[in-house]
Amino acid sequence: MDVLRIRGGNALHGEVFVGGAKNACLPLLAATLLTDEPCVLRNVPDLSDSRFMLEILRHQGALVEPLGANAWRVTAGTLQPKTPYELVRKMRASICVMGALVARLKRAEIPLPGGCVIGQRPIDLHVKGLRKLGCTIENRAGMMRIDASRARGAYVFLGGRYGSTVTGTANLVMAATLTPGVTRIDSAACEPEIGDLCRMLVKMGAKISGVGSPTLLVEGVEKLSGCEHVVIPDRIEAGTHLLCGAITRGDVTVRGAVTEHLGAFLDKLDEAGVPIETLSPTAVRVRGDLVKDFRPIDIVTLPHPGFPTDLQAQFTALLALVPGISIVTERIYPNRFMHVPELLRMGADIAIEGPSAIVKGVPALSGAPVMASDLRASAALVLAGLAASGETWVQRIYHLDRGYEKFERRLAALGADVARLRQEDMPSELRSEA
Ligand code: EPU
Repeated sequence: MDVLRIRGGNALHGEVFVGGAKNACLPLLAATLLTDEPCVLRNVPDLSDSRFMLEILRHQGALVEPLGANAWRVTAGTLQPKTPYELVRKMRASICVMGALVARLKRAEIPLPGGCVIGQRPIDLHVKGLRKLGCTIENRAGMMRIDASRARGAYVFLGGRYGSTVTGTANLVMAATLTPGVTRIDSAACEPEIGDLCRMLVKMGAKISGVGSPTLLVEGVEKLSGCEHVVIPDRIEAGTHLLCGAITRGDVTVRGAVTEHLGAFLDKLDEAGVPIETLSPTAVRVRGDLVKDFRPIDIVTLPHPGFPTDLQAQFTALLALVPGISIVTERIYPNRFMHVPELLRMGADIAIEGPSAIVKGVPALSGAPVMASDLRASAALVLAGLAASGETWVQRIYHLDRGYEKFERRLAALGADVARLRQEDMPSELRSEA
């Protein structure tokens, strides 16, 4: 197993180019199953999650061919309806193939994914949506058997207790594209990744209106065709790199992003006293070196365009060093605070009160061996390590590899002292045996 060794204290300087969005590319890859014609996807990030999704497409029967760096052609000729538990268990987002299989084959057999470390993560809204379309769904031994032979367009309200659902919206839109009649989805997710999916589906011949809004109208068509599509930039990767500039008091410019997708996040950086320059619609610069006084702030995570839960852990790492008391409230995953006990090991002062973290800023963090528990928590620990004195060893970084392409190389290019090593290279007294 690999670990990251970070020797903190270097201010990061320079430019980073953002890659394709993981959370856009997974449903986009699933959408290639909607047609038997070839689809070409470009700007696919080279991440373990994307590779895993390609494996699932192969498993369903698609021909998957690389087209050079970050591009893939998928031709989904004859498909099979069953997705095994082994695959869905390893990556929850594989549930995205459900909508495409239902649309194309009128049936699917897919396991219920179960919970994960960031929360319960039920899929009741996905199921409700498909039932509203007239699908029958039987659950046998954890396996959903879906029959969509009598499905028709319908009205679906897709809001739940935590707001809209991103992959639920993706599944329902995909299912509706080839379902006769008009489907109206209210309380649809407005995340940019859903907009990107709808744009690809429209290129394939789907009839969708209201893209980007909470009301989507999908008129079923008989057939979809192949297309070529470029995955949108990863707003979470962009935000994480900007935080690297802020937390190290450096000067980092992120290019190739869509700054419009970062509204709530940039607003909070500004409120926290971090100077930001929006250089163009695709470039933003953070001047950690010009910070006079950091200010404590309150953050509440919400569905887009609210503050994204996927940047909560990383921002909490910054707030751990902001004098005063900040309050971070999770409205999407009320228990998504696994990074907190690890930050405490580094000297942070944070208390969890229900869905909120009360963060009392400390003057400095100190390096420690820490354990990554999920993707964004891992990124938070890396950020803390960059700002801490001494050495931080981040273990179980396979979580990080799910969502950040060549993270340590990009950080090193900005001046960080970071190395990917084998766990055996860690001083034995620091190692936690997994
Ligand atoms: N929810 C339900 N019922 C459902 C579906 C969701 O109650 O049927 C709840 C969830 O438990 C959660 C909230 O609704 O409390 C939002 O869940 P959502 O369905 O929107 O999440 P998701 O689609 O499973 C995607 C991203 C996550 C990101 C969330 C929220 C992908 C592949 N994953 O998950 O990304 O946190 O939206 O924005 O798009 C990450 O990248 O680290 C990550 C976890």
